Formats: sequence, C-alpha cells, structure tokens
Amino acid sequence: MQKNMFFPKSLNLTAIEKSILNQLRYFGWAKISWDHLFDEIPFDSLLFQSIKNDFKPLIKARNNLFSIDCPSEAQYYISSRDIYSTMPSGNLLQLAFMPSISRIVISYLANSFLYDAEYWLHFKSNSTVKTSAQLWHRDPEAKKMLKIFLLMHDVDSSQGPTEIISHSHKTSPNKVLSKFQSSKIHISNLDIDKLKNKTELSFEFMTGTTGTIIFLDTSAIHRGGFCENDRLVSYMCFLPKSLFCEHKYPSWIRL
Ligand SMILES: [Fe+2]
Repeated sequence: MQKNMFFPKSLNLTAIEKSILNQLRYFGWAKISWDHLFDEIPFDSLLFQSIKNDFKPLIKARNNLFSIDCPSEAQYYISSRDIYSTMPSGNLLQLAFMPSISRIVISYLANSFLYDAEYWLHFKSNSTVKTSAQLWHRDPEAKKMLKIFLLMHDVDSSQGPTEIISHSHKTSPNKVLSKFQSSKIHISNLDIDKLKNKTELSFEFMTGTTGTIIFLDTSAIHRGGFCENDRLVSYMCFLPKSLFCEHKYPSWIRL
C-alpha cells in the first residue's frame, strides 16, 4: 500500500475514509459496510429503509416482465429510470451527498459532478453468450472516475457481480496494467492471457453482504457477469468536472 498519500487538510477525513481512499488509489476499488462508513446513521436507519422501499416498483415491474421481451441487449436489468422517473430518487441523492461520500469523492476526483444516480435490478438472462459490458473493457468517459454501489442484499458470484482486475485503473502505480489499452473497445481473453505473462493479475468480484458500499474506478479493466439470481443495487456515478459541458451534463437532465 502506498504511504504519504495527499489529503486536503480542510476535508478532515476520518481514518476509515483515508483507508478507503488508499485502497481505491492502490487497487482501483474499495469495499466498506454501511455501518463502518456512516457511524452516525445506523444500518437500519430510515434512509436505508427508504432506499429499499424505492425498489418496490422495480420488483413489481420485474414480476410483470416474464411475458415481455426485455430491452437490454446483454444483461437483463431494469433501471429506476425506465420505471418511474428520469430524476434520481431523493433518497438516493441524499446518500450520494452524505458528508462521508462527498469527502471521498472530492479527495479522489477533486472537482467532480454527479453524472448518474439510479437503482438497478439485474435478473437471469436466457443468453449464454457474453456481450457488451459483460466483456472486459474500460469505461471510456475519463482517465479517473468513481462509481459507487450500495448492495441492497447479500450478493455472491451467482448474481453476476462486476469483476475487476485490481491495479488496472488508469492512475494505478502498476504501469503494465494502467497503460494497457486494447485497440478495440472490448479487451479479448487473449489480451488478458498476454497480460498474465507480463504481470500478476488479481481478479476481484464486487460481492458483499447487505449494505456493502463499493467504490470502483471503472477506468480499470472490468466486466459484468451472468445473473442466476436477482441483484438489487443502488448506483451513483461521479465524473471529473472537466467533462461537464454541453455533451456531458448529468444524464437525468437530458431532454
Ligand atoms: Fe463498464
């Protein structure tokens, strides 16, 4: 783990927030339980329950979907945006701007904006072929970005969690991994095998128990999986403010 990381003094980061930042900068991801991050707001708080309640329309829609063709091209999922509003839930916005989250986001990205905030319900797909985001790739938006997931229930490998290659984010100290770029959008398994010959690869699934908060810099090499069982996650995406322009403003204010 790198030492002597820079933290703006005015932010007064807690020891846990510093630890998350160190992990994020070193591995490209970090996990923490709700209770550990928000010691002032217990796990069974009104906020968590309110977020949980926000999923009811998605679950209802998912139950009605059995006889309907799902629009997703690869991994079957429903987004809150499809169901009840283009605007993020007020509960989710409250989470996105919790002081602990804000301190971590500001420390990691400096100037940034909340690009996206929505709920996802992933469910079993009939497809057996991996396509789109299920193939290895880097998210193209920025050299450094931060996606935050709140697991609404226990998630194991049967629920198709995101898989990431640790140390592969573009600002990683591991130059072999951080500099690797495929000539195509998706990175082939052959490329992954070549990388294995150059450096040790560590694959990590974004699994966890209910209330786990996952921080992920998706400039890292990652992919989605196949869902055998439903997966409910709250999702927030922060991008550098330099991208905030007419082509890249928060997604929910698109007309
Ligand atoms: Fe991605």
